[in-house]
Amino acid sequence: MRTGGSTGAGTLPAVPPYYLTTPIYYVNDAPHVGTAYTTVNADALARWHRLIGDDVFFVTGTDEHGAKIVEAAEAHGTSPQAWTDSTSARFVEAWKRLDISNDDFIRTTEPRHHAVVQEFLQRVYDNGFIELGLYTGLYCVSCEDYYTEEQLVDGKCPIHGRPVVQLQEENYFFRLSAFAQPLLDYYASHRDFVRPTTKRNEALGFIRGGLEDVSITRTSFRWGVPVPWDDGHVFYVWYDALINYLTVASYGSDPARFASLWGAAHHLIGKDILKFHCVWWPAMCMAAGIEPPAEIFVHGYLLMGGQKLGKTMIQAGVAGVGDDARRVRITDVSPLALADEFGVDPLRYHLLRDVPLGGDGDFSYEGIVSRYNADLANNLGNLVSRVATVVHSKCGGVGPAPDAASTLSDRVAEVLTASSEAWSRWAPHEALEATWKLIGAANAELEGTEPWKMPPGPEVDAVLGSALEVLRIVAVLVSPAMPGTAAEIWRRIGIEGDPSAARLPDDAAWGGYPGGVPVVKGEPLFPRRKG
Ligand code: MSP
Repeated sequence: MRTGGSTGAGTLPAVPPYYLTTPIYYVNDAPHVGTAYTTVNADALARWHRLIGDDVFFVTGTDEHGAKIVEAAEAHGTSPQAWTDSTSARFVEAWKRLDISNDDFIRTTEPRHHAVVQEFLQRVYDNGFIELGLYTGLYCVSCEDYYTEEQLVDGKCPIHGRPVVQLQEENYFFRLSAFAQPLLDYYASHRDFVRPTTKRNEALGFIRGGLEDVSITRTSFRWGVPVPWDDGHVFYVWYDALINYLTVASYGSDPARFASLWGAAHHLIGKDILKFHCVWWPAMCMAAGIEPPAEIFVHGYLLMGGQKLGKTMIQAGVAGVGDDARRVRITDVSPLALADEFGVDPLRYHLLRDVPLGGDGDFSYEGIVSRYNADLANNLGNLVSRVATVVHSKCGGVGPAPDAASTLSDRVAEVLTASSEAWSRWAPHEALEATWKLIGAANAELEGTEPWKMPPGPEVDAVLGSALEVLRIVAVLVSPAMPGTAAEIWRRIGIEGDPSAARLPDDAAWGGYPGGVPVVKGEPLFPRRKG
């Protein structure tokens, strides 16, 4: 296998950087299937970019300041620091369990982050875009956001339905209003800055609707990054959180690294935080004299569909501090319990395959089961077991080399093109759909030729060798979605190494399966499940 990497001694062409982020998650809550949705999608994309040889830097983390965290800590009878330490650790553990391949994990309470926040906002202050003012407004602690009277529903927060509080503070304000025109110009000259188009239009709607200055500091509590030019204030949590994207890219500490990474920054976010990322953040960057990130992709929401969730799939207690009676909501569903029930890769596959990035989609127990049975048990798992069984009955357990003239080689080329194109559009579901067409074609080929009825010899070898070659390539193509399964397929067909370390397109060229290697007959990869 060719190996990637950016430090290749001057002989290799420079490897393009690809810097990808998830939102950093609030530690008032444990990881749930909604936050897993974003994280798994970002992870699959990072893995795909590694496969095509990009120098990937993929980061996630936790957002640990603000009133919401202080409130959660108090509700659990502990200090903000102890609370954030324990909840942040739950995110680290959960993402490890879900095979998330992040290269860094940022916690906003880290000294490296405080230093960058202070340096960045000092620059914005020195550039004249921050000034003192009196803030009076209605605030929802759950959103960490302000509302106008008109935006409230029955006098309560339109998202959380909880009472808002009247805040009056002397605050520093960011002069967001100065950036309406620069933002419109930026959007006009960077058509793909925000994707998909519906979300781009939404962001433009905010900007055209008029931008007011934003209060960015607090004096009512101390749990935040201190304002460097005024001891009495800490930064408002959103103003510190967005800057995490600069902290991990070495802003202010390693200018060369920052310059290379920042031009390749891609943020994946949910639609709930569009305004902060697509309006505030580029304006903040401009105010500090840096370019906005390269791209922001906004996905929709995973909504609760069928209610058939076993008790063990629902985590008690930590979600929705201060909320009323318990009812099953998406934030109550633990991705770890789902991984225990279905396996890590089937959960990842479901999250990637069933809710296309960009729109909203349903999450349900029945949905996972039916996808599992159709695609994993009946299709991929079936192909792996069939091929291994016939290699054992006809070829003494030794995998034959592929047929150079197999028509499946054309299907591989088509699927590779379709997948590359789909991943570049943030459409993992289409990339996987294309890959499953290839799996379906290999299964159909076996059904058409029926090698189990043939006598041992060159004809059966050609059919089975080609099926093994499809499996070798399929493992590479599914590795961004199901890294563990991909590695297991290679092990079973007798190939050493890890498909996640393959490089495309070279390693999908037809004919790579060596032949003459032992094929393992194992337990079904995905035993069929009852609904
Ligand atoms: N801390 C802020 C983000 C700061 S980024 C500089 C925050 N955190 S959060 O914990 O509330 O996570 C929000 C993100 O989690 C959403 O933007 C989205 O990516 C993901 N999701 C949370 N619930 C979700 C669903 N039900 N469905 C899909 N994604 C969900 O906001």
